[in-house]
Amino acid sequence: MTIAIVGGTGPEGSGLALRWARAGEKVIIGSRSAERACAAATKIAEQIVGTGDYIRASILSGAKNSVACDGADVVVLTVPFEAHAETLKQLKNSFRPGQILVDTTVPLAASVGGRATRTLGVWQGSAAQQAAEVVPEGIAVVAAFHNVSSELLKGADPIDCDVIVCSDDKEAAKKIRELARKIPGIRAIDGGKLENARTVEQITALMIGMNIRHKGHSGIRITGLPTEAYEI
Ligand SMILES: NC(=O)c1ccc[n+]([C@@H]2O[C@H](COP(=O)([O-])OP(=O)(O)OC[C@H]3O[C@@H](n4cnc5c(N)ncnc54)[C@H](OP(=O)(O)O)[C@@H]3O)[C@@H](O)[C@H]2O)c1
Repeated sequence: MTIAIVGGTGPEGSGLALRWARAGEKVIIGSRSAERACAAATKIAEQIVGTGDYIRASILSGAKNSVACDGADVVVLTVPFEAHAETLKQLKNSFRPGQILVDTTVPLAASVGGRATRTLGVWQGSAAQQAAEVVPEGIAVVAAFHNVSSELLKGADPIDCDVIVCSDDKEAAKKIRELARKIPGIRAIDGGKLENARTVEQITALMIGMNIRHKGHSGIRITGLPTEAYEI
């Protein structure tokens, strides 16, 4: 599977790239600038080389967002909310039917100069639903990773966090849960339809507030479900 990370030069995209490259997935870092993308890919590869894993480091590359998107099976969107709709519109001709778009975007009020502990109302219900409205037909939109902090992704330790995966496309959601589980420590759970992304996105604003108050990097765990819920 080839994974393109649009906006992969930022902390969230770079962190996911690092973890998936370590798991042996082919990752292309995307950016508005090919130079920045390659520099970010090199930096992540150096981190992997540091652990002696030359083969996994070599499967990382960088490209302009459109080129990265064009060559991928899974496109992960990690740009701030203010760039969300515009970035997807610009990539319209780079998407191919059958691809999966994973949206990690949280519509934080910080996008319009407000607080990172508050969210904006999105007309469609959530950033992920906005994405579904913008992408061409044939692209499955999956909402995931909103509650995984980049601070936890950038290290090597197992991540103490669950990933709630929401989508109207069951097959696509299953593939993304499998991808999430490649990151040590992460459990992935079926969060139901894409409309539920609205709730999952909001949790992040709450977590940011708790991180500030308690000076930490919080994650979430859903408890009380049968073991199969974390495996399907
Ligand atoms: N950071 C976290 O811990 C975290 C956790 C969960 C979810 N998220 C979500 O993940 C997304 C990315 O978070 P982040 O902290 O990595 O964001 P970020 O650093 O603010 O931005 C990520 C990348 O997006 C690109 N970008 C920035 N402004 C843009 C614009 N106006 N138009 C097009 N591209 C632009 C930049 O890449 P280039 O300049 O190279 O193009 C930047 O490096 C956000 O939506 C956030 O809500 C973040």
